[in-house]
Amino acid sequence: MDKTYLIFLLFFAASYSSLVSADSVTVYKDFVRCFTNKTSISDKELSDVVLSRTSVSFTPVLRAYIRNARFNTSSTPKPSVIVVPRVESHVQAAVICTKTLNLQLKIRSGGHDYDGLSYVSAVTFIVLDLSNFRNITVDMNDDGGSAWVQTGATLGELYYRIWEKSELHAFPAGLCSTVGVGGHLSGGGYGHMIRKFGLTIDHVVDATIVDAKGQILDRKSMGEDLFWAIRGGGGGSFCVILAFKVKLVEVPKTVTVFRVDKSADQNALDMVHKWQFVAPRTDPGLFMRVLLSSATRKNNTTTVNAKLRALYLGNADDVVSMLAKEFPELGLKKEDCREMTWIQSLLWWLNHVDVDKVKPEILLEREPDSAKFLKRKSDYVEKEMTKPELNRLFQRLATLNRTGLVLNPYGGNLNATATNATAFPHRHKLYKIQHSVTWTDAGPEADRLYVGNLRTTYKIMTPFVSKNPRSSYLNYRDVDIGVNDHGADGYRKGEIYGRKYFGENFDRLVRVKTAVDPDNFFRNEQSIPTLPSKRR
Ligand SMILES: Cc1cc2nc3c(=O)[nH]c(=O)nc-3n(C[C@H](O)[C@H](O)[C@H](O)COP(=O)(O)OP(=O)(O)OC[C@H]3O[C@@H](n4cnc5c(N)ncnc54)[C@H](O)[C@@H]3O)c2cc1C
Ligand SMILES: *[C@@H]1O[C@H](CO)[C@@H](O)[C@H](O)[C@H]1NC(C)=O
Ligand SMILES: *[C@@H]1O[C@H](CO)[C@@H](O)[C@H](O)[C@H]1NC(C)=O
Ligand SMILES: *[C@@H]1O[C@H](CO)[C@@H](O)[C@H](O)[C@H]1NC(C)=O
Ligand SMILES: *[C@@H]1O[C@H](CO)[C@@H](O)[C@H](O)[C@H]1NC(C)=O
Ligand SMILES: *[C@@H]1O[C@H](CO)[C@@H](O)[C@H](O)[C@H]1NC(C)=O
Ligand SMILES: *[C@@H]1O[C@H](CO)[C@@H](O)[C@H](O)[C@H]1NC(C)=O
Ligand SMILES: *[C@@H]1O[C@H](CO)[C@@H](O)[C@H](O)[C@H]1NC(C)=O
Ligand SMILES: *[C@@H]1O[C@H](CO)[C@@H](O)[C@H](O)[C@H]1NC(C)=O
Repeated sequence: MDKTYLIFLLFFAASYSSLVSADSVTVYKDFVRCFTNKTSISDKELSDVVLSRTSVSFTPVLRAYIRNARFNTSSTPKPSVIVVPRVESHVQAAVICTKTLNLQLKIRSGGHDYDGLSYVSAVTFIVLDLSNFRNITVDMNDDGGSAWVQTGATLGELYYRIWEKSELHAFPAGLCSTVGVGGHLSGGGYGHMIRKFGLTIDHVVDATIVDAKGQILDRKSMGEDLFWAIRGGGGGSFCVILAFKVKLVEVPKTVTVFRVDKSADQNALDMVHKWQFVAPRTDPGLFMRVLLSSATRKNNTTTVNAKLRALYLGNADDVVSMLAKEFPELGLKKEDCREMTWIQSLLWWLNHVDVDKVKPEILLEREPDSAKFLKRKSDYVEKEMTKPELNRLFQRLATLNRTGLVLNPYGGNLNATATNATAFPHRHKLYKIQHSVTWTDAGPEADRLYVGNLRTTYKIMTPFVSKNPRSSYLNYRDVDIGVNDHGADGYRKGEIYGRKYFGENFDRLVRVKTAVDPDNFFRNEQSIPTLPSKRR
């Protein structure tokens, strides 16, 4: 696995040469010739919509949605051209012209791809930046409430626009407000209501796209196979998604949040052990996430801290008495709980402790408050770990600086949907783990150290997680599990990560891909491969 990743990085490094820069001038000229032919764009508008490397906007526009400092360096490969469409016909022309020039198109909505696949490539490429596609129309009169949301909008903007119309309606998606709708919804999506309402894609009812021929299609004209694929099968394999139509859900006037922190010296181990039995089986209105991380004690020895963060769709008294019975090891008290509105619960999860002092308008902010180096990996657990197993995990984890495991409970109503209802297959698992490392010091040495630490947690977890295949969550993008260089055996390579991300749904995804994009125009390092031509 390490070897695959190394090759991936070498591709990156190799493609960054002066040769490519010279090329980029030609690419830009050819692209503009085609683009102006396909659209009726004025010269003035063209300079804002199609950016060459020499444009003053090129670097600021590229950086505006880079969310991982690892891919923000001078040696990170850059696109030859950035297209920032303002209308749908610009997207159509971008697809047709990139295809005509036989180049790779990277589609970017919120730019939160953990391995930067929406704006980095090893080959000559063009970035399609959808940040102008951020319109949101909420209609409370449509069948209990729905919204059309363009893919360049952020989750925070969607939550805010719903809240403006109704405090008793919400949407079950991710907890980070700057995440883009485009990548999040096409990759599955979940947040703190996953056990009550299932995945984000379970609430998607329509979409508009630009396909590989440059046509604009909706659910009816694209057909149910492709509509199935873009709900969990990942953006970037099938089409450019312009907008999704989503159904809203109802939330109570009062919800409760709480946090309980325990160190290894305060029986964190007993708490985490019992959590595995309670969190996936309790009331679907209760979501309890646990974060395990290494920490240094006052006497300079290391330990593991367990931090539990929870949302209950109801009031504090009810959840306290429920957990007194189900989870006494937690020792939850009413004083640990805070009652608030649903929109305030989002602010609380964004680490605003005093939610009365911040306004929901902060959900509209697009600039994240930090620019850090990250690496993430994912795993699924199907059977509870025993106390001795957890103990060994704690001892190893304590020595791995800056590394953490985030345990997200499944079960509840998520479990009620068939694993082939959408492209996302991992519905019947006990819980999901996000392996996480975040650091601030630049350079290859820090990169090796911290990414190495994370790969160690991944090795340590091998006996305790899903097998054959070892499953992964697409939205926790991880190029370590394999990349497809689209060479002769691209199908086989695609199957390695494809089975991990999609399980048995991989086969249907390949059939859809082969039908809608036989030339494999929509491709990236981990896209769905087409069937080898002799098998078509
Ligand atoms: C800080 C942070 C917090 C997160 N929290 C959560 C969470 O709570 N829950 C959760 O489920 N996930 C979470 N994620 C993961 C997140 O859902 C994924 O990274 C998601 O794919 C990001 O979408 P994006 O549009 O911002 O990313 P991008 O980097 O723009 O895109 C991601 C992928 O989708 C493709 N794509 C993007 N837009 C389109 C489009 N319009 N049409 C076709 N393809 C497209 C890209 O080419 C790329 O392959 C988090 C990520 C970060 C960095
Ligand atoms: C676009 O190109 C085609 C083929 O070269 C040409 O016939 C057509 O007139 C061009 N259209 C515009 C608007 O430039
Ligand atoms: C990228 O680099 C620029 C310039 O140094 C910086 O302002 C920005 O915060 C960085 N972003 C990330 C995510 O590293
Ligand atoms: C967003 O909506 C406005 C107002 O209706 C419209 O003028 C604009 O073209 C829309 N933007 C996109 C990218 O669709
Ligand atoms: C460090 O402190 C912890 C508790 O705070 C204690 O259990 C441990 O024995 C101490 N170790 C040393 C080497 O002092
Ligand atoms: C812990 O380490 C710090 C910095 O290395 C040092 O200043 C401090 O004295 C150490 N404390 C103990 C209890 O050893
Ligand atoms: C973790 O890293 C930080 C800085 O990167 C360092 O100060 C600290 O001593 C390290 N801790 C351990 C346990 O290695
Ligand atoms: C989900 O359902 C499956 C069977 O339908 C069952 O085996 C599994 O234990 C359930 N998981 C949870 C977390 O409820
Ligand atoms: C899912 O699988 C079941 C049983 O194998 C099958 O009957 C059903 O048609 C499948 N559904 C979809 C959407 O493919």
